[in-house]
Amino acid sequence: MKKLRLGVLASGRGSNLQAIMDRCQAGSLVAEVVVVISDKPAAYALERARRAGIAAYGLEMAAFPSKREYEQAVVELLREAGVQLLCLAGYMRLVGEPLLQAFPNKIMNIHPALLPSFPGLHGQRDALQYGVKISGCTVHFIDEGMDTGPIILQAAVPVLGDDTEETLAARILEQEHRLYPEAIQLYAEGRLEVEGRRVYIK
Ligand code: GAR
Repeated sequence: MKKLRLGVLASGRGSNLQAIMDRCQAGSLVAEVVVVISDKPAAYALERARRAGIAAYGLEMAAFPSKREYEQAVVELLREAGVQLLCLAGYMRLVGEPLLQAFPNKIMNIHPALLPSFPGLHGQRDALQYGVKISGCTVHFIDEGMDTGPIILQAAVPVLGDDTEETLAARILEQEHRLYPEAIQLYAEGRLEVEGRRVYIK
Protein backbone atom coordinates (compact mmCIF):
# COMPACT_ATOMS: atom_id res chain seq x y z
CA MET A 1 0.00 0.00 0.00
CA LYS A 2 1.33 3.40 -0.99
CA LYS A 3 1.72 5.88 1.85
CA LEU A 4 -0.95 8.57 2.05
CA ARG A 5 0.59 12.05 1.90
CA LEU A 6 -0.61 14.14 4.84
CA GLY A 7 -0.49 17.87 5.39
CA VAL A 8 -1.05 19.10 8.94
CA LEU A 9 -2.29 22.50 10.07
CA ALA A 10 -1.63 23.26 13.74
CA SER A 11 -1.74 26.35 15.92
CA GLY A 12 -0.13 25.10 19.12
CA ARG A 13 1.91 22.46 20.88
CA GLY A 14 1.23 19.74 18.31
CA SER A 15 0.75 16.65 20.47
CA ASN A 16 -1.77 15.29 17.95
CA LEU A 17 0.73 15.93 15.17
CA GLN A 18 3.27 14.00 17.23
CA ALA A 19 0.87 11.08 17.70
CA ILE A 20 0.27 10.97 13.94
CA MET A 21 4.01 11.14 13.15
CA ASP A 22 4.74 8.40 15.70
CA ARG A 23 2.12 6.08 14.23
CA CYS A 24 3.49 6.72 10.72
CA GLN A 25 6.96 5.92 12.01
CA ALA A 26 5.73 2.74 13.68
CA GLY A 27 4.03 1.65 10.47
CA SER A 28 0.56 1.27 11.99
CA LEU A 29 -0.50 4.33 10.01
CA VAL A 30 0.36 3.87 6.36
CA ALA A 31 0.92 7.55 5.72
CA GLU A 32 3.59 10.22 5.93
CA VAL A 33 3.40 13.80 7.09
CA VAL A 34 4.95 15.75 4.22
CA VAL A 35 4.30 19.32 5.38
CA VAL A 36 3.23 21.12 8.56
CA ILE A 37 1.89 24.67 8.46
CA SER A 38 1.00 26.91 11.37
CA ASP A 39 -0.74 30.26 11.61
CA LYS A 40 1.51 30.83 14.65
CA PRO A 41 5.18 30.95 13.66
CA ALA A 42 6.23 30.18 17.25
CA ALA A 43 4.03 27.07 17.54
CA TYR A 44 5.84 24.08 19.02
CA ALA A 45 4.18 21.93 16.35
CA LEU A 46 6.60 23.46 13.80
CA GLU A 47 9.55 22.54 15.98
CA ARG A 48 8.33 18.94 16.21
CA ALA A 49 8.05 18.79 12.41
CA ARG A 50 11.53 20.23 11.84
CA ARG A 51 13.05 17.76 14.29
CA ALA A 52 11.47 14.97 12.28
CA GLY A 53 12.89 16.42 9.06
CA ILE A 54 9.47 17.51 7.78
CA ALA A 55 8.95 20.78 5.90
CA ALA A 56 7.47 23.32 8.32
CA TYR A 57 6.09 26.78 7.62
CA GLY A 58 4.81 29.52 9.92
CA LEU A 59 2.40 31.77 8.06
CA GLU A 60 1.00 34.65 10.06
CA MET A 61 -2.38 35.71 8.80
CA ALA A 62 -1.60 39.33 9.65
CA ALA A 63 1.17 39.24 7.03
CA PHE A 64 -1.48 38.80 4.30
CA PRO A 65 -3.97 41.37 3.00
CA SER A 66 -6.88 39.01 3.76
CA LYS A 67 -7.77 35.58 5.08
CA ARG A 68 -8.44 34.50 1.50
CA GLU A 69 -4.89 35.33 0.47
CA TYR A 70 -3.48 33.65 3.55
CA GLU A 71 -5.40 30.49 2.70
CA GLN A 72 -4.34 30.67 -0.94
CA ALA A 73 -0.73 30.66 0.22
CA VAL A 74 -1.46 27.67 2.45
CA VAL A 75 -3.10 25.84 -0.46
CA GLU A 76 -0.06 26.48 -2.63
CA LEU A 77 2.30 24.96 -0.04
CA LEU A 78 0.03 21.94 0.38
CA ARG A 79 -0.19 21.40 -3.38
CA GLU A 80 3.57 21.75 -3.82
CA ALA A 81 4.01 19.02 -1.23
CA GLY A 82 1.50 16.77 -2.99
CA VAL A 83 -0.82 16.55 0.00
CA GLN A 84 -3.70 14.08 -0.38
CA LEU A 85 -5.38 14.57 3.00
CA LEU A 86 -5.22 17.67 5.17
CA CYS A 87 -5.42 17.11 8.94
CA LEU A 88 -6.27 19.94 11.30
CA ALA A 89 -4.58 19.24 14.61
CA GLY A 90 -5.30 21.99 17.10
CA TYR A 91 -5.80 24.50 14.28
CA MET A 92 -7.80 27.27 15.92
CA ARG A 93 -9.32 28.92 12.87
CA LEU A 94 -12.40 28.42 10.78
CA VAL A 95 -11.46 26.99 7.40
CA GLY A 96 -12.53 29.16 4.46
CA GLU A 97 -13.37 28.70 0.82
CA PRO A 98 -9.87 28.47 -0.71
CA LEU A 99 -8.96 25.45 1.43
CA LEU A 100 -12.40 23.83 1.17
CA GLN A 101 -12.37 24.11 -2.62
CA ALA A 102 -8.82 22.85 -2.96
CA PHE A 103 -9.47 19.84 -0.68
CA PRO A 104 -13.15 18.89 -1.01
CA ASN A 105 -13.99 16.17 1.54
CA LYS A 106 -10.28 15.86 2.13
CA ILE A 107 -9.93 17.85 5.35
CA MET A 108 -10.25 16.18 8.76
CA ASN A 109 -10.37 17.74 12.20
CA ILE A 110 -10.16 16.54 15.78
CA HIS A 111 -12.34 18.26 18.34
CA PRO A 112 -12.12 17.79 22.14
CA ALA A 113 -15.82 17.16 22.78
CA LEU A 114 -18.61 14.88 21.60
CA LEU A 115 -20.01 16.93 18.72
CA PRO A 116 -22.50 18.40 18.10
CA SER A 117 -22.12 19.35 21.78
CA PHE A 118 -19.58 22.01 22.66
CA PRO A 119 -18.14 23.13 19.32
CA GLY A 120 -15.68 26.02 19.19
CA LEU A 121 -12.46 26.92 20.89
CA HIS A 122 -13.13 25.61 24.44
CA GLY A 123 -14.73 22.18 24.11
CA GLN A 124 -13.39 20.85 27.40
CA ARG A 125 -14.19 23.95 29.46
CA ASP A 126 -17.70 24.24 28.00
CA ALA A 127 -18.47 20.57 28.76
CA LEU A 128 -17.25 20.95 32.34
CA GLN A 129 -19.23 24.14 32.89
CA TYR A 130 -22.38 22.61 31.44
CA GLY A 131 -22.11 19.72 33.88
CA VAL A 132 -22.19 16.74 31.51
CA LYS A 133 -21.08 13.38 32.95
CA ILE A 134 -19.53 12.13 29.73
CA SER A 135 -17.45 14.00 27.18
CA GLY A 136 -14.78 12.92 24.72
CA CYS A 137 -13.46 13.69 21.28
CA THR A 138 -14.65 13.64 17.70
CA VAL A 139 -12.84 13.20 14.40
CA HIS A 140 -14.87 14.67 11.55
CA PHE A 141 -14.61 15.97 8.03
CA ILE A 142 -14.57 19.72 7.66
CA ASP A 143 -17.33 21.68 6.01
CA GLU A 144 -17.96 25.44 5.98
CA GLY A 145 -19.45 25.45 9.50
CA MET A 146 -17.81 25.50 12.91
CA ASP A 147 -17.18 21.83 13.82
CA THR A 148 -20.28 20.75 11.88
CA GLY A 149 -18.92 18.32 9.24
CA PRO A 150 -19.75 14.59 8.99
CA ILE A 151 -18.52 12.60 11.99
CA ILE A 152 -16.00 9.81 11.39
CA LEU A 153 -15.17 8.49 14.88
CA GLN A 154 -15.89 9.44 18.48
CA ALA A 155 -14.51 8.31 21.82
CA ALA A 156 -16.09 8.96 25.21
CA VAL A 157 -14.47 9.63 28.59
CA PRO A 158 -16.11 10.18 32.00
CA VAL A 159 -16.22 13.64 33.55
CA LEU A 160 -15.29 13.24 37.21
CA GLY A 161 -16.51 15.26 40.16
CA ASP A 162 -13.13 16.76 40.91
CA ASP A 163 -12.15 17.45 37.29
CA THR A 164 -10.62 20.76 36.30
CA GLU A 165 -10.40 21.88 32.70
CA GLU A 166 -6.81 20.57 32.70
CA THR A 167 -7.53 17.08 34.07
CA LEU A 168 -10.49 16.61 31.72
CA ALA A 169 -8.45 17.89 28.75
CA ALA A 170 -5.66 15.42 29.58
CA ARG A 171 -8.11 12.48 29.76
CA ILE A 172 -9.63 13.48 26.42
CA LEU A 173 -6.21 14.07 24.84
CA GLU A 174 -5.19 10.49 25.52
CA GLN A 175 -8.16 9.37 23.44
CA GLU A 176 -7.42 11.96 20.73
CA HIS A 177 -3.95 10.52 20.22
CA ARG A 178 -5.45 7.09 19.63
CA LEU A 179 -8.51 8.12 17.63
CA TYR A 180 -7.03 10.54 15.10
CA PRO A 181 -4.46 8.12 13.62
CA GLU A 182 -7.18 5.45 13.52
CA ALA A 183 -9.48 7.70 11.45
CA ILE A 184 -6.64 8.63 9.09
CA GLN A 185 -5.77 4.96 8.61
CA LEU A 186 -9.41 4.22 7.67
CA TYR A 187 -9.19 7.00 5.10
CA ALA A 188 -5.86 5.67 3.81
CA GLU A 189 -7.46 2.26 3.34
CA GLY A 190 -10.29 3.85 1.33
CA ARG A 191 -12.82 2.64 3.89
CA LEU A 192 -14.69 5.89 4.59
CA GLU A 193 -17.82 6.54 2.59
CA VAL A 194 -19.62 9.84 3.11
CA GLU A 195 -23.34 10.01 2.38
CA GLY A 196 -24.85 13.30 3.44
CA ARG A 197 -24.12 13.69 7.14
CA ARG A 198 -23.25 10.04 7.66
CA VAL A 199 -19.85 8.46 7.32
CA TYR A 200 -19.98 4.71 6.73
CA ILE A 201 -16.97 2.57 7.57
CA LYS A 202 -16.66 -0.19 4.98
C1 GAR B 1 -6.52 19.31 21.09
O1 GAR B 1 -7.15 18.99 22.30
C2 GAR B 1 -7.53 19.46 19.98
O2 GAR B 1 -8.60 18.58 20.05
C3 GAR B 1 -7.99 20.88 20.20
O3 GAR B 1 -6.83 21.58 20.51
C4 GAR B 1 -5.89 20.70 21.15
C5 GAR B 1 -4.60 20.77 20.40
O4 GAR B 1 -3.60 20.05 21.07
N1 GAR B 1 -8.64 21.41 19.05
C6 GAR B 1 -9.66 22.27 19.12
O5 GAR B 1 -10.09 22.71 20.17
C7 GAR B 1 -10.23 22.69 17.79
N2 GAR B 1 -11.39 23.49 17.98
P1 GAR B 1 -2.25 19.66 20.33
O6 GAR B 1 -1.71 20.94 19.69
O7 GAR B 1 -1.37 19.17 21.42
O8 GAR B 1 -2.57 18.61 19.32
